[in-house]
Amino acid sequence: MAKYIVEQSGPLHGVVEISGAKNAVLPILAATLLTDEPCEISDVPALSDVEVMVKLLESIGSRVSWDYRNKIITVESGKSLRNEAPRELVSLMRGSIFAMGPLLARTGRAKFPLPGGCAIGARPVDLHKKGFEALKATVEMGDDYIEARARELIGGHVYLDFPSVGATENIMMAATLASGTTVIENAAEEPEITDLAVFLNKMGAKVKGAGSATIRVEGVESLHGTKHTVIPDRIETGSFMLAAAITRGDLLLTNIVPGHVSAVMSKLSECGVVFEENDEGLRVRADVNPLVATDIKTMPYPGFPTDLQSQFMSLLTVVRGHSTVTETIFEGRFKHIGELNRMGADIRIEDRKAEVEGGQPLHGARIRATDLRAGVALVLAALTAEGETEISDIHFVERGYEEFTDKMAKIGANIRRVDD
Ligand code: EPZ
Repeated sequence: MAKYIVEQSGPLHGVVEISGAKNAVLPILAATLLTDEPCEISDVPALSDVEVMVKLLESIGSRVSWDYRNKIITVESGKSLRNEAPRELVSLMRGSIFAMGPLLARTGRAKFPLPGGCAIGARPVDLHKKGFEALKATVEMGDDYIEARARELIGGHVYLDFPSVGATENIMMAATLASGTTVIENAAEEPEITDLAVFLNKMGAKVKGAGSATIRVEGVESLHGTKHTVIPDRIETGSFMLAAAITRGDLLLTNIVPGHVSAVMSKLSECGVVFEENDEGLRVRADVNPLVATDIKTMPYPGFPTDLQSQFMSLLTVVRGHSTVTETIFEGRFKHIGELNRMGADIRIEDRKAEVEGGQPLHGARIRATDLRAGVALVLAALTAEGETEISDIHFVERGYEEFTDKMAKIGANIRRVDD
């Protein structure tokens, strides 16, 4: 297995170009199943999660070509699609379940292995099931699979008990080919949902209200092919903002949408980080003011994103002062705390809250990434730790960050990837 060796690094300086958003490209790739015409998607990041989604589409019967160099994927799903997703692919990535709604809408049946839990939580699919049933599909839950059938999907009304990103996306995609109108209430409002809706409407769908809590979809007969460039990755953006902050550096981030990261920018401003927007991009300056602690609480968008909780916690461990980190989205998203404490951090967990006594000097250690975002959090902490840190299980990081070590090394991080 590969690992990162990270040495203490001075303030990071330079330019980082943000890649296309992983969590936009995954549902958009799934949405290509809704038409038998070719779709071309641009600014696709070279990530292992994207590779898994491509393999999933091919296993269902789509023809996919991936121009790595130009970051373009072309998908043609043809007329005959298989109704079942292979277990070995779904078990690799939860996002695979986004293909269920489109497949159900296109073929009338979709059977998926249950994606299963992961380091951050149980990851149930009850809201996906509730949505498909609202579209008059019959949904059967086996021990390890979920199957939905419908001779015809009929538009309906569904209230999401939690604004689930994946359930919102799955239902929205299935509803595009239902007969009649579908209303999704308490829908997730993440920018990736809006980007998916833009893609669907380019295909001829009639989706309104994406990005708000109520989404209306008027079903149409069929959808056609289209071209689309995915939005920049707001979580990668926030991760590099935190890399600047934790090393007291000065970075210019390009290809970003500041509006997608306003919660993170607000919290970093509370810590003393200074932002300057110019026509090249967004400058992140952590070398202006002494940094102070602040509290964070993860919430559905536009609240503070759970996907940046662990990275922000790394900053709070090295900034003087007491802070509280509350994780309200996933029940298992504190696994990085044990690893940070092994580096000398002083963090105590009380249920969904973590109490951080910041300002402890961190020291290098042999630690492991427990999930995609926690892996980056540990790299950030290692940049400030005295001595050398060895981080294993870094395959998690490579699921979600394109050319991560290259981008980090280019701005002055002492990081290298070694194979065991
Ligand atoms: C998406 O996961 C993202 N993944 C996650 O990013 C992100 O953390 C999450 O949304 C929240 O923003 C992709 O887009 C591929 P949810 P998803 O359904 O759709 C509960 C990353 O690091 N829930 O919004 O799986 C669930 O248990 C990943 O890039 C139900 O109860 O998240 C959780 O507590 C990690 N029933 C909460 O909702 C359901 O049927 C949020 O989950 C579905 C979800």
